[in-house]
Amino acid sequence: MAEAFVSTEERAAFIAGLPKAELHLHIEGSLEPELMFELAQRNNVAIPFASVDEVRAAYAFSNLQDFLDIYYQGMGVLHTEQDFHDLTAAYLVRAHTDAVRHVEIFFDPQGHTERGVAFATIIAGITRALDDARARYGMTSKLIMCFLRHLSEADAEKTLDAALPYLDRIDGVGLDSSEVGHPPAKFERVFARARTLGLKLVAHAGEEGPPAYVHEALDLLKVDRIDHGNRSLEDPALVARLAAEGMTLTVCPLSNLKLCVVDAIDAHPLRTMLVAGLRATVNSDDPSYFGGYVNANYLAVADALDLSKDDLITLARNSFTGSFLNDAEKAKHLAAIDAYA
Ligand code: HPA
Ligand code: ZN
Repeated sequence: MAEAFVSTEERAAFIAGLPKAELHLHIEGSLEPELMFELAQRNNVAIPFASVDEVRAAYAFSNLQDFLDIYYQGMGVLHTEQDFHDLTAAYLVRAHTDAVRHVEIFFDPQGHTERGVAFATIIAGITRALDDARARYGMTSKLIMCFLRHLSEADAEKTLDAALPYLDRIDGVGLDSSEVGHPPAKFERVFARARTLGLKLVAHAGEEGPPAYVHEALDLLKVDRIDHGNRSLEDPALVARLAAEGMTLTVCPLSNLKLCVVDAIDAHPLRTMLVAGLRATVNSDDPSYFGGYVNANYLAVADALDLSKDDLITLARNSFTGSFLNDAEKAKHLAAIDAYA
């Protein structure tokens, strides 16, 4: 019999100390309104908000595109190496507070280079903060460069070219932004080149797009992980395949709620995924915009679905098993979860 929690407080306390990895986090989506204002002032950038409260009030979305419009606008305050450092450092403090031991961070270079920010500036700022977190907290990290799928594959190819001098600091490539109408097939060649460069491969698929996009991410892009993947559940053969292949899904409950991928948090498919044998993980996606960092995501979905201690342990174990750490590092973290449990 799975051990049940008697209260939200007991569940929250268990989640708070549970060692975990975060595998789906857009660093630009961790930009809190307070820092947005600070950077706007520092860089003399105009933003269309008069106060932090006004910014938060604008965070009401009815779909992915509603969010993306405001997300690209928000990242416009990021200009200098120090800005990218401060953004990343602020996230890492929050992650450390949430017992995150390892993080795999997405960044969107095209959202910055198109505004005239140099690739070197982005990488230098982010990696300085990552290196500090390793020294300070022992927190390890991987960096994943995402291609914006609403732009062309040629643009993605140029972005991969620009990344070549920094491949010692970039571990993988991903695919994000507006999903419907921009299927994985559009990026087959650039993903193939990334693969020959030894990069790990992930793609957002099945967030708003159909199960066919998840099939394409697997068959054409040959991804190592699927980001979101919710709509896979509409296709039983796909579910069986994902389970058989031990494919990790990076699920983001509060994001799904805020972007109306689910109608209510108690309608979230996370339990269904676990019951189907899918290697689901819990992540925050864009925590500043969606109302919570990783532990808030664990707690919201665990409360709504009445997840047991065993379920939470499975989710935390999946986060390390599905990470891009090596086997020895994974084993160390899994042992720490066992010791905690
Ligand atoms: N989906 C697609 N693109 C994104 C997301 C997301 O959840 N967050 C940031 N870019
Ligand atoms: Zn995402």
